[in-house]
Amino acid sequence: VEAFEAAFAEYVGRRHAVGVGTGTDAVALALRAAGVGPGDEVVVPSLTAHGTAAAVMMIGARPRYADVDPSTRVITPVTVEPRLSRRVTAVVAVHLHGHPAPTAALRRQCDRHGLLLVEDAAQAHGTRDDSGTHVGGDGHAAAFSFYPTKTLGAPGDGGAVVTDDGAVASQLRRLRNYGWDDDRVAVVAGTNSRLDEIHAAALRVLLPHLDAAVRERRELARRYRAELAGAPIGQPPEATGAAYHQFVVTVRHRDRVRQHLADAGIGTAIHYPLGLHHQPGLAEEAPIQLPVTDELCRTMMSLPIQPEVARDHLEKIAATLLGIVEDDR
Ligand SMILES: Cc1ncc(COP(=O)(O)O)c(C=O)c1O
Repeated sequence: VEAFEAAFAEYVGRRHAVGVGTGTDAVALALRAAGVGPGDEVVVPSLTAHGTAAAVMMIGARPRYADVDPSTRVITPVTVEPRLSRRVTAVVAVHLHGHPAPTAALRRQCDRHGLLLVEDAAQAHGTRDDSGTHVGGDGHAAAFSFYPTKTLGAPGDGGAVVTDDGAVASQLRRLRNYGWDDDRVAVVAGTNSRLDEIHAAALRVLLPHLDAAVRERRELARRYRAELAGAPIGQPPEATGAAYHQFVVTVRHRDRVRQHLADAGIGTAIHYPLGLHHQPGLAEEAPIQLPVTDELCRTMMSLPIQPEVARDHLEKIAATLLGIVEDDR
């Protein structure tokens, strides 16, 4: 675990990486270590995996959902601003589908309001900003997941938090291990959230291959864009540093299109079918309107971008999709 932590910190360009049990724990413990707790409110996107909001709930705080920008599908200072209040103490920015969220601008906004910024980089291994810097350095801490389906995935659950803040890193090391100090005295109410040694060993072997895997995903995304150009299909946002954890298009009559693709033997996925603000276990007390999130949840569809599938079948997938949407015009 220690060897992988050192390698991962160096890869991301941060001083510390602390391995934990899951990506959800990584978000929760990053928030806790930075000082967020019961009674606090945390602005998160509604268009994200459950783990982002579950992490906020786990530490006794409450999510306040922000809409996303229609073109980039991530939160921005403009979508966050209306959700700020006296009770909000932190913002979690998600690099959705491996697309870099505008974390430098969000950090300036957070600093202006005295808020913490945590980056949820669970889908963003290999995602870089426009200057080529790996994401994860604008927030007070950044959380990663190593669930097997991630671009850097372990044989089972795993996660890590990266930070430049030595005090946050030390607190994370205590929190993940029963709250122990060096003498095995619980100095804080901790938990058991260790990164498994076997998983860390696998991750250490896979990490040197991550950049090549991301380069291949970028090339697959480029091929999809070329094949689908001109069709009535919404393409994912473009950024040179995007890592394409998913390649997510938008289409009208999405469920019908998906069924036709399935009939042709092409599997797609929906990330995500319903904004978290509509889900009873995670919703706010009062209903809120997030029209961009709602529209994206109705129309988004993830095409196969895993190199093992897309490498040899991309043109067929694109041609089949084009045929379906042309018939649907
Ligand atoms: C954006 C985001 N945040 C958090 C998580 C939670 O990670 P894990 O499944 O490892 O708990 C995930 C993964 O599903 C994710 O995609």
